[in-house]
Amino acid sequence: MYLIEKYKNFLPINSDTPLISMGEGFTPLVKSRNIVKDIGCKELYFKLEGCNPSGSFKDRGMVMAVSKALEKKAKKIICASTGNTSASAAAFGAYCDLETIVLIPEGKISLGKLSQTVAYGAKIISVRGNFDQALNLVKEIADKQDSIELVNSLNPNRIHGQKTGAFEIVDELGYSPDYMVLPVGNAGNITAYWEGYKIYHDLKNIELPKMTGFQAMNSAPIVNNAPVKNPQTIATAIRIGNPASWNQAKNALEESNGSINAIEDDRIIEAYKHIASMEGIFVEPASSITIAGLYDMKNKNYDFSGQSVVCVLTGSGLKDPGFAETYLELEQQIIDPDINALEEILLV
Ligand code: F0G
Repeated sequence: MYLIEKYKNFLPINSDTPLISMGEGFTPLVKSRNIVKDIGCKELYFKLEGCNPSGSFKDRGMVMAVSKALEKKAKKIICASTGNTSASAAAFGAYCDLETIVLIPEGKISLGKLSQTVAYGAKIISVRGNFDQALNLVKEIADKQDSIELVNSLNPNRIHGQKTGAFEIVDELGYSPDYMVLPVGNAGNITAYWEGYKIYHDLKNIELPKMTGFQAMNSAPIVNNAPVKNPQTIATAIRIGNPASWNQAKNALEESNGSINAIEDDRIIEAYKHIASMEGIFVEPASSITIAGLYDMKNKNYDFSGQSVVCVLTGSGLKDPGFAETYLELEQQIIDPDINALEEILLV
């Protein structure tokens, strides 16, 4: 069954909305075997959003936004992006025969995301500036031109679609976790998960999780309660200084008695390697901030005993080969195709 079909009672779907799917959603919830011991919680799960068709969580929101665009008979979709939204929009655009226009901060999106967007055939416009400036431009053009549908998370259909991540977690566990951990960039996803949990709370009487967000240290407007004019971080996906869903995210944090903290780039890099080598899960740097964040809380004497924790791992590590090249050291031995040479290395 399609994702938006399964959850249609909670989504803005009517008889005119085309039900489409590229296979998004239904992503694995993997139980930690190793990091859980360091954190000292009862259970720790990873929601592998990199398993979505374009390799990130954006597909959950994009499928809803594009369905609604098709319902309106739109011919063009547009977004600003740090990379994943553009890849997702371009994939759905190709699938649904919509012209896709993406505005990206020049030189600041990863090679994997850019390659996808090129391959799917989107019109790519690089802005000499950052994501926040690109977002202002697409807002302005979408306001002026009715025929272009904005598919950034300012579009409420994106948030609707992304709520399904929370539904899936509760459907699988049978309860909500005590801590729901997410990276925060434009703040759409934390907003969406909170909405999802609240819907299930009202419907199924589940407890509500503490929403736990992390921003990169020099791109941390919500943590510092002030926009960042020139945000910087190696986690390019969350290099955002003025999040569109700032107020909604603050609300989620307050209502859930949650927290949001800033994490140094060095810790993000460490966690990127750590989750791969400890759990066999390769994620992009923006996703690994959740792991860095948990260790940070633990180091600040946070007591997780008896608690359940779910981290949303928002994007695949394969998205960012340049990052891997820069921060991973390739150690290998090279041999001739000769059994003696292999034995010399392996039989000690
Ligand atoms: N993780 C990844 C891998 C992302 O690509 C993003 C956002 C986030 C986390 C943060 O999610 O914006 O909902 O708070 N990427 C957007 C983009 C901005 O353009 O792809 P958020």
